[in-house]
Amino acid sequence: MTEPDIHGGARVAGLLIELEQVARTFQVAGEDVRAVRGIDLRVRVGEALAIVGPSGSGKSTMMNLIGLLDTPSAGHYRLAGVDTQALSSQEKARLRNRDIGFVFQQCHLLPSLSAQQNVQMPLLYRGLTPRASLDAARAALAAVGLEHRLSHRPSELSGGEKQRVAIARAVAGRPRLLLADEPTGALDSATGARVLDLLREVTTANGAALLMITHDMGIARQLPRQITMHDGCINPLHA
Ligand SMILES: Nc1ncnc2c1ncn2[C@@H]1O[C@H](COP(=O)(O)OP(=O)(O)O)[C@@H](O)[C@H]1O
Ligand SMILES: [Mg+2]
Repeated sequence: MTEPDIHGGARVAGLLIELEQVARTFQVAGEDVRAVRGIDLRVRVGEALAIVGPSGSGKSTMMNLIGLLDTPSAGHYRLAGVDTQALSSQEKARLRNRDIGFVFQQCHLLPSLSAQQNVQMPLLYRGLTPRASLDAARAALAAVGLEHRLSHRPSELSGGEKQRVAIARAVAGRPRLLLADEPTGALDSATGARVLDLLREVTTANGAALLMITHDMGIARQLPRQITMHDGCINPLHA
């Protein structure tokens, strides 16, 4: 069997993400919570897309499915032409590490590590040498304007700086897909605007697709495409 290859598949199809009637239902205390209800969505290679919608509408659940952090209860999800249902958890973990970057509202940096070490960590997991991972981490931190903060720990950084470290960590390995779940939610509007600019810069530079969840319509409108979610469904006009 050939190894699933997001790059090869994407080149052939031009489509990075294809969701077909994807649903995710959680069982809570014997009740079904239908967080995502039969979504159809296509995202092209390198496309930038905002996902907006009220709290509880299923945005994070859908993003977790797209990021291979969770598995659909029904439907099909193809990532760069690869049917994700056929992948083992090991293959999914490898695709996630190599091809998908994540940025969350809370940065989830490791508090005992410096900015540079936080960015290096996933690259070491991926099998890069210490030297290569160091070079890539420094380049990524320079790209987000933090070359002067390499040795700082998260507690010694501002909120905006921490989010920039998280962005550097997400893109240092040049993923094909960057998933950002309310990345500006904890920031003041000027810092949030800067973080949005950075997300666009780093994804455009790498030809990566960007999917960003946001509450802020002002931010959503700055991306070329928006979809809205409501009660686990995408507004069909925008899918
Ligand atoms: N792990 C889970 N277990 C049970 N219910 C969940 C879980 N994750 C999300 N939900 C429920 O699914 C719905 C959608 O949640 P979520 O995707 O987090 O919405 P959003 O990100 O749009 O605020 C909510 O009703 C939420 O309570
Ligand atoms: Mg959410």
